Amino acid sequence: MTRVEDGTPHHSSTAAHRLSEGGPLPSTAMRVLVSGSSGFVGSHLVRWLLQHGHEVTGFDLAEPRRPLPEDIPPGAWRDIRGSILDEDLVERVMHEVRPEVVFHLAAQVSVSVSMREPRLDIETNVLGTVAMARHAAAAGARRFVNTSSGGAMFGEAPVVPTPDGTLPAPQSFYGASKAAAEIYLQLIQHETGMSFASVRPSNIYGPWQDPHGEAGVVAIFARRMLRGDEVTVFAPGTDTRDYVYVSDVVDAMVRAAMAETGELCVVGTGIETSTMDLFRAMARETGYEIEPVIGPPRPGDIPRSALDARKAEAVWGWTPQVDLTEGLRRTIEAFREELE
Ligand SMILES: NC(=O)c1ccc[n+]([C@@H]2O[C@H](COP(=O)([O-])OP(=O)(O)OC[C@H]3O[C@@H](n4cnc5c(N)ncnc54)[C@H](O)[C@@H]3O)[C@@H](O)[C@H]2O)c1
Repeated sequence: MTRVEDGTPHHSSTAAHRLSEGGPLPSTAMRVLVSGSSGFVGSHLVRWLLQHGHEVTGFDLAEPRRPLPEDIPPGAWRDIRGSILDEDLVERVMHEVRPEVVFHLAAQVSVSVSMREPRLDIETNVLGTVAMARHAAAAGARRFVNTSSGGAMFGEAPVVPTPDGTLPAPQSFYGASKAAAEIYLQLIQHETGMSFASVRPSNIYGPWQDPHGEAGVVAIFARRMLRGDEVTVFAPGTDTRDYVYVSDVVDAMVRAAMAETGELCVVGTGIETSTMDLFRAMARETGYEIEPVIGPPRPGDIPRSALDARKAEAVWGWTPQVDLTEGLRRTIEAFREELE
């Protein structure tokens, strides 16, 4: 199986060609629906799917974060504005589009919003996911690819890097809603026969990330360093996270869609990077010479987080391809262009 090389536009068709060779991969273009298509990960996924000849419908409350390239074949892309909580709309869209695969990324993504507004979080991440999955199944979808969160659902895990099979022990409503959604999806799979897969990423970073997301730290540091603004590192700065590059997550999502059976897999590098080490690496790459401001510790921040993705390797043939140095270089380059 060939891997997704990058979520950003390129014009090679080699990967598309190889994606259709052998194994469980379909030889024809798929009709897919992507919820959360205007967001950070969704906009990378949509580009990849369009570049590889698939017929894509985007579904998001918000306008797309980035304009799509102009060379999209007519009829390959359709974009719908609306909420996954509007069940009538979800039902209509699923029946009109009749997607073979649904990539479900739309979510309430902020841990702190989930703590302030648990109802909004539960509605969006549980009820919204259930509505999307039930109507996708009723419209005949083959696979529902859910986006969970390996970082948030395991909390302070007994083993780091944390493998699949670890008992969820979330420390936020966000982590709890992501864990709950997977249980509902198992039930819907049982009830309807539509298979589902769940990609459980660690902290995703890359170009076009919004600084308010779950792993906004790279986006926040990049913008502030490039502008020469002060950067705050929350104490103690030794907290570790597992940073996975966005094209590797897109790759995992595509593999989850193509695999013979639906699987639930954490997706991360297994490498712990402390916030202070991230700061230093980004300072080197941006030429930033100011010392960080040390902020107060943030309540609820877990000291260590990293994922053991050996299951994703075994069942999807997935391994991360972009290491942190290269990923930060690409991300900073993209932010630099954005700020120019
Ligand atoms: N970014 C990360 O580090 C990370 C890590 C683990 C999991 N995830 C998951 O990956 C997915 C994508 O995250 P992202 O970083 O691209 O976030 P994002 O905020 O950039 O994108 C989410 C999109 O969902 C849309 N949305 C929210 N509520 C909606 C609703 N009710 N109806 C329709 N659309 C709605 C938003 O408008 C947004 O465009 C999410 O499910 C998130 O929980 C992200």
